[in-house]
Amino acid sequence: MRTVAICNLKGGVAKTTTVINMAAILAQDYKQRVLLVDADSQCNTTEFFWGVDDGSATLADFLRETRDGLNGCVEDYIAKTSFPGVSLVPGDDSLMDLDLTKVETKAVQATALRNMVSVLAEQDEFDWCLIDCPPAFNAASAAALLAADEVIIPIKLDAFSLRGMANMARQVSNMREINPGLKVVGYLPTMWYNSPKILEAEQTLKNSGLPVFDHIRRTAMMPDFGE
Ligand SMILES: Nc1ncnc2c1ncn2[C@@H]1O[C@H](COP(=O)(O)OP(=O)(O)O)[C@@H](O)[C@H]1O
Ligand SMILES: [Mg+2]
Repeated sequence: MRTVAICNLKGGVAKTTTVINMAAILAQDYKQRVLLVDADSQCNTTEFFWGVDDGSATLADFLRETRDGLNGCVEDYIAKTSFPGVSLVPGDDSLMDLDLTKVETKAVQATALRNMVSVLAEQDEFDWCLIDCPPAFNAASAAALLAADEVIIPIKLDAFSLRGMANMARQVSNMREINPGLKVVGYLPTMWYNSPKILEAEQTLKNSGLPVFDHIRRTAMMPDFGE
């Protein structure tokens, strides 16, 4: 099982869009078994694949309830979605309450998700585990980055991102402090469009020697017919 965190501390860079599309393509076109982990308290991935909160166990429950160990109950936190081949550890808004002090006070075990991933890999239940990370460094993102072997960093190539590239490198080295084996598979330029600033930013990213995926174009908005 490949465990990939989709991560960028900046919001609105298409992390969730990337996770949703990767899951759908892997499951539908490549017949892969995909586990999604929604680590963002906004839970858009959960809403997309699963709908509204129906009281099922969530990632926040898992992180709180396994602080003293897994107790062999990994399956209790995995929901089947209606999309064939895609399962989900749902997120909910209580992920918001899991700040890093919860790790310090041991109310949450930051390695719990890594332990879950190890159990699932042993059981050969899934081919991929994709983790949708929050735009914040909290207990859920720490758990995600400890669990992942690989990270994909979606990046929007606007003027702000150009200035933020140094921060991005710092983010990656911070991630490696908690998980030295973490491999950056690549930066994924998202919402690309043809403009001098975007082309310049894309070239700067490529010149930095970091692995860079082919860009994803910005999808034009459909005209609003007032429906
Ligand atoms: N290729 C694209 N073209 C146009 N809009 C996009 C594209 N990718 C993502 N978006 C939009 O950008 C917004 C932010 O995307 P989202 O995936 O929620 O980002 P994040 O998870 O990083 O906060 C959403 O409204 C999404 O629909
Ligand atoms: Mg998101």
